[in-house]
Amino acid sequence: MDFHVLTLFPDMVRQGLNTSIIGRAMKDGHITLNTVNIRDFSVNKHNRVDDYPYGGGAGMVIQAEPVYRAWESVAKNSKAIKQGKKPRCIYLTPQGKVFHQTMVEEFAQEEELIFLCGHYEGIDERVLEEVVTDYVSIGDYVLTGGELASMVMIDAISRFVPGVLNNEESAQFESMQDNLLEYPHYTRPESWHEKEAPKVLLTGDHNKIEAWRWEQSLIRTKERRPDLLEKNKSLKVAYFSPTGGTKKAAEMLATMLSQNPEYIDLTRRKFRKQKQYFGKKDLLLAAAPVYGGQLPQLKEALFTNFKGDHTPCILMSAYGNRDFDDTLAQIKDILEARGFYCIGAIAPIIPHIYSEKLGADRPNAEDEKVFRQFAVTVKQRLEDGLEESLMIPGNPKPEPKTMKPVVHYFDEIKCKGCQTCVQKCPTSAINKDTYQIKEELCVGCLRCERVCSGGARSSDYESVKKYLEDNFCHPKEVRWY
Ligand SMILES: Cc1cc2nc3c(=O)[nH]c(=O)nc-3n(C[C@H](O)[C@H](O)[C@H](O)COP(=O)(O)O)c2cc1C
Ligand code: SF4
Ligand code: SF4
Repeated sequence: MDFHVLTLFPDMVRQGLNTSIIGRAMKDGHITLNTVNIRDFSVNKHNRVDDYPYGGGAGMVIQAEPVYRAWESVAKNSKAIKQGKKPRCIYLTPQGKVFHQTMVEEFAQEEELIFLCGHYEGIDERVLEEVVTDYVSIGDYVLTGGELASMVMIDAISRFVPGVLNNEESAQFESMQDNLLEYPHYTRPESWHEKEAPKVLLTGDHNKIEAWRWEQSLIRTKERRPDLLEKNKSLKVAYFSPTGGTKKAAEMLATMLSQNPEYIDLTRRKFRKQKQYFGKKDLLLAAAPVYGGQLPQLKEALFTNFKGDHTPCILMSAYGNRDFDDTLAQIKDILEARGFYCIGAIAPIIPHIYSEKLGADRPNAEDEKVFRQFAVTVKQRLEDGLEESLMIPGNPKPEPKTMKPVVHYFDEIKCKGCQTCVQKCPTSAINKDTYQIKEELCVGCLRCERVCSGGARSSDYESVKKYLEDNFCHPKEVRWY
């Protein structure tokens, strides 16, 4: 990440950021800091950059031209300009949007940022209109200039740049996510000024310690920042995933949205049959694989036992690099009819069960970046109070497709009678005595084959595989809404 700061006091910014974690990140090359002195671009023979305000009044105003030239000196070499875009330029002002954690994550997606620091009464409005993309305030108070504010932002954003924090530091900082304040900390000695360190922290019982810390976080947030608790959503991730691809993609996204996601495994019939209730404080991530361009045809249809109460939800349809067609629209339709509204939808690519070539090693590092962008956008939408469902392409009520792409084989001699396939089949399609598959219940997920350690199960899907590999091998990009 490259930071450029346009300022009248470059030393202040450099000195302020040159130590500790940010200083180390600069030395290690994870971030760069380029300070540009606006005064170097003065158009006045006395090197002045300010003048009296038109219309009178106290203070001075920084002129447009030196600011524009300083900005131009950076912008002309920026990656954004080379891609035909305007570089992201942040003007620090009490009139801006108040800086918060989601904005930190959003800015951290950029490769470079320009900060413009004002002084005196401010900067000529005309140059702001030309160069500034974001007006940001670090709080409802007035500073003598934008330098300290830019340093605060650079510090917060740098934490999200890969490599800036080591593992220990990031684990520590991560716990500040989720709109919760951190739990209290204690160290040696056990007793100080007749105050004891909490006994639970000395037990060595990791689960108990985690539970205590979580509770303390909640108590502390309730006492000190109840406004944060209002915003806090409890993430519930409901997924159907016979062979684990959808689950992996859902988990990847969930960890970007929350520290404590709760999982509901709809691959198990038991959980599909159960009624699940969600409130306004919940956030549902509903994830399903694409079967024939739509949701898998299950007796207990996915998400139909859910009941929301104006609950926000995120949709995920994971697919094997062919297409997701109507799946997102279908999930949206089911959930909207049950008290949810959609604040985002994503269609990641995962390995296709019928081909080792389609979706191999997805989601990959590039996908992870897209997931992060999506996660930040969704959080931003929640912060902004979005309460209406988004538009999602596709037919919400597609004609159900009967698909039988697989011919199953069962080798009685190799079967050890362990019952694993019977228990793991998501549709209870395998007879527990004969181990034969009831074709009318089978959805062709191939889970039974994957879980059979004796090699008693195999299948033929050669024609589907050939069709897929002839037509859909070129890797698709993750789409989101
Ligand atoms: C019956 C069936 C139909 C499928 N249809 C599609 C499809 O239309 N488009 C596609 O890209 N992937 C399709 N897939 C692949 C799945 O979406 C996905 O890659 C994987 O097989 C299932 O995910 P899981 O690992 O979470 O169980 C299909 C898979 C099955 C079993
Ligand atoms: S029988 Fe096998 S392929 Fe068919 S639904 Fe059950 S686990 Fe999936
Ligand atoms: S998992 Fe394999 S070995 Fe076990 S019962 Fe099923 S077919 Fe037989």
